[in-house]
Amino acid sequence: MEIAEALALLMSPAGRVDPYPAYERLRGYGAVVQAGPDTYVVTGYAEADEILRDPRFRVLDDELRDRLLPQWRDSPAQSSIARSMLETNPPDHGRMRRLAAGVFTPRRIAALRDVVASQADELVDTMAAAGRDGAPVDFLAEFAYPLPVGVICALLGVPAADRPLFRRWAADLTGILEPEITPAELAVADAGAVELRGYFAELVAARRRQPADDLTTALVQAHDAGDRLSGEELLANLVILLVAGFETTTNLLGNGLAVLLAHPGAADVLRRHPEHAPAYVDELLRFDSPVQLTTRTSGEVVRIGGAELPAGSWVLLLLGAANRDPRRYPDPDRFDPWRAQLNPLSFGAGPHYCLGAGLARLEAQVAFPLLLRRLPGLAPVGTPRRRTRLTLRGYDIMPVTIGDSASAADHGAPVGTAPGTP
Ligand code: HEM
Repeated sequence: MEIAEALALLMSPAGRVDPYPAYERLRGYGAVVQAGPDTYVVTGYAEADEILRDPRFRVLDDELRDRLLPQWRDSPAQSSIARSMLETNPPDHGRMRRLAAGVFTPRRIAALRDVVASQADELVDTMAAAGRDGAPVDFLAEFAYPLPVGVICALLGVPAADRPLFRRWAADLTGILEPEITPAELAVADAGAVELRGYFAELVAARRRQPADDLTTALVQAHDAGDRLSGEELLANLVILLVAGFETTTNLLGNGLAVLLAHPGAADVLRRHPEHAPAYVDELLRFDSPVQLTTRTSGEVVRIGGAELPAGSWVLLLLGAANRDPRRYPDPDRFDPWRAQLNPLSFGAGPHYCLGAGLARLEAQVAFPLLLRRLPGLAPVGTPRRRTRLTLRGYDIMPVTIGDSASAADHGAPVGTAPGTP
């Protein structure tokens, strides 16, 4: 199989559902390989990590966007993402990122632990009630979506009643993060962007009239104070914070639960020893990353991983493949929370390293032990449905039964302490 064929396999419907065989084929050609004119694919952990940290590589800038997506200025979805910190290079990137970063410091994230635990507890109550008679419950709709959306909405100051709006809009918008998109998918993404921007334009106006103690107010004040954030950037970053704040974490909870249910022995250890949640969550992130790829472009000729990348080349960094690089992770297809080293590339690296990594980790570290402890009979049922997305990997629907656990056993036991843990 040629490199181009392996890449086509990755982009095919089968590759989107299970990209790992295509990653292995691509890896067979090298850690960095040319896959088309000026297009390179990276499957190596060390190489992807190096590129993400190397200032010669930049996120898509307007010049490359003009070349690759000539109509991007007419697309609300593409132009919105383009004005967010996710797709902005220095010096503007640091200016935008600093404005939001104060909310995501380790101290402020740690202070959210009890809020996350009580929201997760309430969602388990609802799931247990819905599944009491043995009826299947959709884990995505009942838990994996509402937990992260509730947390990020609370930080942004989005009213609780509005939360159900975002699942569709965000799913529609994030289609533009795919490496290939059809005109029909772009139209759907544009409609999602218009809804989300319209929503935030109203929230901005409300906070301007009546400030509150939330991230939206902080960004509105940064905009109104002068030249720190343009109107376009304000909306673009509010949208990206909301969307990045839950789409990915929903997928971490969904992908992660699927792995735990398929590994009952490992799940049982976590049930009894929740203090191991940090290692489990990082291994779940490595094993089936909610973000499978990102892209960069090089401003000059760069030699890396035995390849010479010309200036202006487009580099597809396959984070999901890097996370299974056997040079870093021996026996990479095995789920093993006891690995000597973890630190997967699921949150990226370098200047764009995920702003919400601490928050996402906290949510998962609280949620998995709590789910396993309160719903010990949780089991998959029927056929879960994978999304046909490559970049943001996750499920649409994941039916589970609550089993013999609807008593929701030790409701109220402190989160983070294992009964019988030494
Ligand atoms: C498991 C959950 C998550 C995963 C796997 C994830 C993954 C990522 C990755 C890979 C990037 C870097 C993209 C690149 O370098 O091109 C990123 C950036 C970002 N993430 Fe996350 N993310 C998660 C959760 C969150 C949460 C909860 C937030 C909450 C606010 C968030 C906000 C952001 C933002 C704002 C950026 C852009 C940072 C920048 O460009 O400087 N993410 N995320």
